[in-house]
Amino acid sequence: MSLLNDIEPLKQAALADLKAAPDLAALEQTKGAWIGPHGKFTALMKQLGTLSKEEKPAAGKLINAAKVDLEAALAERRGELELKAALPKEPTDFSAPGRRRALGKLHPLTQVTEDIVRAFRKLGFAVADGPEIEDEYHCFDALNTPADHPARDTQDTFYLNVAQPSRLAGAGGTPALLLRTHTSSVQIRVMKSQPPPVRIIVPGRVYRRDNADATHNPTFQQIEGLYVDKNVTVGDLKGTVEFVFKELLGGETKIRFRPHYFSYTEPSFEIDFSNALVKKLGKDWLEIAGCGMVHPQVFENVGYDPEVWTGWAFGFGIERIAMIRYDINDIRLFYENDVRFLKQF
Ligand code: DAH
Repeated sequence: MSLLNDIEPLKQAALADLKAAPDLAALEQTKGAWIGPHGKFTALMKQLGTLSKEEKPAAGKLINAAKVDLEAALAERRGELELKAALPKEPTDFSAPGRRRALGKLHPLTQVTEDIVRAFRKLGFAVADGPEIEDEYHCFDALNTPADHPARDTQDTFYLNVAQPSRLAGAGGTPALLLRTHTSSVQIRVMKSQPPPVRIIVPGRVYRRDNADATHNPTFQQIEGLYVDKNVTVGDLKGTVEFVFKELLGGETKIRFRPHYFSYTEPSFEIDFSNALVKKLGKDWLEIAGCGMVHPQVFENVGYDPEVWTGWAFGFGIERIAMIRYDINDIRLFYENDVRFLKQF
C-alpha cells in the first residue's frame, strides 16, 4: 500500500523542483533526477511489478496521470526559460547615443577613374576590358611595334616564363606572355571582336620594370581611348580630349598637342595641359597623355579597311591625374594602403 501513498508526495516534490529550475541547463538536470532512466519517479514505476494484482491497476493509473502532469510541467517551464533566454539581458535604452558604423571609401585612384569614365560616358563611350597577362602579339606586334623596339626589351617588360598555347599565336610562331605594358593592347582585342564603329575607353593596370620612386611604380593604371568611324579627324580628337580634361581638372584647363612618335598612330602627339594647379608647380605646361590617329597598319592587322575607316586613340596615366588633382607628391602612396593616407579622400 505504501507505493500508492508515495506517488502524490513524490509528484508534488518533482513539480516544485521543475518549477524552480533557474535556467535550461538546470531544468535538464532536474528532469533527469526525476523522470530520467535513473530518476526517482522512474524508480517508483519500476516498483509497480512488486504490487499485487488488485493494487496494480489503481497504482498504474495514478502513476501515469502523475507522469502526464510532470511532462506538462516540464514543457511549460522549458517554454518560460527559452523565452527568458531569448530576451535581451538589459532593457533597451532608447535614449542612448546610436552606434555609428564606420563607412569605407573608394580608393582615390578608383574615384578618379570613375570621374574619367563619367566624362566619357557623356560622349557615348563604353568601358572595355582586357587581360593583364597579355601576349606580345596584342601588346606589340598588332600595334605595329617592331621586334627591336626598346619597350619590348626584358629590361623594360615583365615576361612570363610559361609555354604559350598556339591559339594566341600571332603572325610568326608563338608569342611570349608578358604583363601588359599599356592598355593599348585592348584596342586590338576590341577591334578584332567587333566591326566598326568603335567608341571605347579602357581603364586598367599596366606593368613596367621600373624601380619605384616618387614618380614611378612597377604597377600603375592607365586609361586608353579608341574612336573609330568614318571621316574622323584630329579635330575630333582634340575636341574630345579638351572636353574630358576640362571636366576632370576644371573649366579653365587648357591643352596643347606636340608632335611625337608612337608606332600605332600617325600622326602622333603628346598632350600637355595647363591650369592653376600646373602654375602652382611652377610650370606652364605638364605632359599628360599620348595620342594620335590610328595607323592604317593597325586597321589592317585587325581586319578593318583603312580606306574606309579612320580613328583616333590616346592613353594616359591615372595616377598622374590623381596626383595633380589632390596635390600628392609620391606615387607610392597610392599602393601602400596606409589608412591615414586613404582616409583623406
Ligand atoms: N600606350 C602609350 C603609353 O603607354 C600611350 C598611348 C599613346 C596610347 C598613343 C595611345 C596612343 O592609344 O595613341 O605610353
